[in-house]
Amino acid sequence: MASDRPRVFVTRRLPGDAVERLAAVAEVEVWPERRPPPPEDLARHGADADALLVLLTDRVGGALLDRCPRLRVVANMAVGYDNLDLDELTARGIPASNTPGVLTETTAELTWALILAAMRRVAEGDRVVRRGEWLTWEPDFLLGRDLAGGTLGIVGFGAIGAAVARRADAFGLRVVAWTPHPKLVDGVEWVELDDLLARADVVSVHCALTPATRGLIGARALDLMKPSAVLVNTARGPIVDQAALAEALRRRRIGGAGLDVFETEPIAPDDPLLGLDNCVVVPHVGSATVATRGRMAGMAADNILAALRGEQVPNCVNPAVYEEPRRRTPGP
Ligand code: DGY
Repeated sequence: MASDRPRVFVTRRLPGDAVERLAAVAEVEVWPERRPPPPEDLARHGADADALLVLLTDRVGGALLDRCPRLRVVANMAVGYDNLDLDELTARGIPASNTPGVLTETTAELTWALILAAMRRVAEGDRVVRRGEWLTWEPDFLLGRDLAGGTLGIVGFGAIGAAVARRADAFGLRVVAWTPHPKLVDGVEWVELDDLLARADVVSVHCALTPATRGLIGARALDLMKPSAVLVNTARGPIVDQAALAEALRRRRIGGAGLDVFETEPIAPDDPLLGLDNCVVVPHVGSATVATRGRMAGMAADNILAALRGEQVPNCVNPAVYEEPRRRTPGP
């Protein structure tokens, strides 16, 4: 006999006890593979689900939602939620959630790892040593750039941008920032984006991916940067025009780049960026620490558990869903 407990589909194996906690109140099915479920599998598993726990690699739009008539919540295990079509979710009265706060410091730390790696040519040095090309101590070998005395430009000043800025003083950097909604922050000078690009020795991208920020750092923006400056992106790949960046790096129009995110993930093995020594790349690991990934999974589970209890989802990203008359009656 079919169980009358709610059903939850989780699109990947999760760290920590999130699945166990969900399983205490629901029938939980976990997609077992390393790659995301293809859209058809996601729709098939979602068809009788009351809740979906998805990752940033799972696209949740109208086509999927049309095939998931019982859904009461979609919990994204990420702070960014550009993979969710909020209009489609809201139109159907389905709350969606993200995982704010718990990955802020971890992502700021990875940002600094990339800043330092790009400025001091760390990955390039590692490759040189492994290839046996380290001949001796040479005065002009693998020269990088100093941070101390320079300027850090933060593009998008949300929680992660602010956490990156807080660490700048320790490296002796001034901070300039651009954001559509500036507020007073000690030690931060608000500037226009063009001014930031022209002044910064490190440009670090931290805005959300929206129609307004897609391609924000394109050929024109890169042209405004200093020839010695580095660009770091730990936000979302499509904020930077990747072909324009590869060209700027190839022509040494800018000094270097440190990238955690890409227009298409994983990046294609023949992407021009991968042939450039002045570009450090890591595979979207901004939040990848044991503790943080456990907290993200736990928070996504908490959002689902709240919805299944009939409560408002704590980290709801489409609160309009709770306004009458859109609200939909809970499923069985
Ligand atoms: C997020 O949460 O949006 C990150 O990109 C993944 O940790």
